[in-house]
Amino acid sequence: MNLTLGAESREAQFSRSRFEVQSSRFKVRLLFALNPKPLRSGLLITFEGGEGSGKSTQVSLLAERLRSLGRGVTTTREPGGTLIGEEIRHTLKHSKDNAAMQAETELLLMNASRAQLVRELIRPALARGDIVLCDRYYDSTTAYQGYGRQLDLAMVKTIVDVAVGDTRPALTFFFRVPHELSQERLRTRQATLPFIRDRIEEADREFFARVAHGYEAIAAAEPERVKVIDASADVQQMHASIWRSVEPLLK
Ligand SMILES: Nc1ncnc2c1ncn2[C@@H]1O[C@H](COP(=O)(O)OP(=O)(O)OP(=O)(O)O)[C@@H](O)[C@H]1O
Ligand SMILES: [Mg+2]
Repeated sequence: MNLTLGAESREAQFSRSRFEVQSSRFKVRLLFALNPKPLRSGLLITFEGGEGSGKSTQVSLLAERLRSLGRGVTTTREPGGTLIGEEIRHTLKHSKDNAAMQAETELLLMNASRAQLVRELIRPALARGDIVLCDRYYDSTTAYQGYGRQLDLAMVKTIVDVAVGDTRPALTFFFRVPHELSQERLRTRQATLPFIRDRIEEADREFFARVAHGYEAIAAAEPERVKVIDASADVQQMHASIWRSVEPLLK
């Protein structure tokens, strides 16, 4: 008898707790319905363009400026940005054993790194209200693996969709720079650093021309999201152009 009573009371407890959970979910929904803006809203901004176009330089400058205004900022890069992603980056770019890598393998590894980055770092940062600055994102895949490696663009898009879901940048900067100038900058940078081989930089001139064309196509297709920055300008001029697009997005 006691046992039955005990069971009944546990059932009653269970249904009460379920009611409480449901009613608190309802309260949360009501709160959002009355005030649809989240308390803090994150912002994803991505930086795109060829090697040596100045992406990392501008990510640092923008991060510094935003932090000086008291904003939470997360900076990251692709491929990489997580422990798993950095291992994939090594395989893609620097491993001495990567010479036989196929275009499809490159596509999938880029997006494996991206899937990890989105879930482990970008989404949690956006949920905290951070401004996330990402040094390359999925436009790099469209430009390099789609246009550069000439993989089917619809297939590339399908795989990118799996990796990022609805985690899309609010704003993207495409740094447009003549190939010769970016090569010159890379040579200057390399003069101060130990040489590290990069498999992707070993591609031929036609490959980089196709990548540049790919970026132009992306910028033309989405002019609202993708802002073209003249990357032959000096560092501070580039930063000023970037700031003109970022400032209106800050709430
Ligand atoms: N606007 C600029 N004018 C002149 N030099 C620049 C400019 N921006 C960056 N640099 C220099 O050019 C080199 C490449 O810049 P940076 O590393 O920012 O490019 P990146 O796009 O991140 O390159 P990568 O694709 O290889 O990562 C660096 O030595 C940097 O100091
Ligand atoms: Mg860089």
